[in-house]
Amino acid sequence: MTVRVLASSTAVAVAAAEMVQERARQAVAEHGRFVFGLTGGRSPRALYRLLAQSPLREGMPWALTHVIWGDERCVPAEDAENNAHLATTLLLAQVPVPAGQIHRVPVEMPAAAAAVSYEETLRRVVFPDGVARSDVLLLGLGDDGHVASLFPGSPALAERQRWVVDVARTEGPDRVSLTFAAINEAGLVILQVCGEAKGRVLRRVLDGEDLPARRVAPRDGQVLWLVDEAAAAVLPPDLGG
Ligand code: 6PG
Repeated sequence: MTVRVLASSTAVAVAAAEMVQERARQAVAEHGRFVFGLTGGRSPRALYRLLAQSPLREGMPWALTHVIWGDERCVPAEDAENNAHLATTLLLAQVPVPAGQIHRVPVEMPAAAAAVSYEETLRRVVFPDGVARSDVLLLGLGDDGHVASLFPGSPALAERQRWVVDVARTEGPDRVSLTFAAINEAGLVILQVCGEAKGRVLRRVLDGEDLPARRVAPRDGQVLWLVDEAAAAVLPPDLGG
């Protein structure tokens, strides 16, 4: 696990975008394609905008990029809460990723069926060799330490076989989420942490509390925490606090 402190939330987004581009090029050079796992929430927005603009836009191998999502809310595809809608608006509508390489969660189905269908797509189309290896997987850090839609106390945290599960929520729409069986096959997981409140959550993770984010530990990959100064201020001194 690497924690990198940057001066501002803008600098965090720039570092994330540059890292995505570096890994994308590397992935294409090594195995001919780039599998990019996207997230929702606020944390990826500036990154999506940067990737959609010059100069990063021109440096990305869009034609060889395959897009998947770490999680999704089961709301209509055009709803502002829909993670694919967010990514489409800010990024995918503006870059030449072939439509057939964008794999959305089928939110028109109930969550349980959508999870089964999404896993089937991932296994058949994106990862036919049976390993869910996204080259870069973006995740966000929830206020309660959740990542993707894997919340504290959820039985989904312990899932070892399925790559995708449905997650019932009492507050808000049901969700579909990758499990750690898939997340921890990623080559690189990037989490952007900005502001003091999120810094406090990261502190709990680094202190060893058994929060979902603590379980992000790719079997054969890396975790990169990109942290702004406001978040770093509440981390242990050797990490910028
Ligand atoms: C989502 C993600 C969720 C998110 C965290 C952090 O779609 O909302 O599933 O895991 O990344 O809740 O959200 P923020 O970036 O908005 O703080």
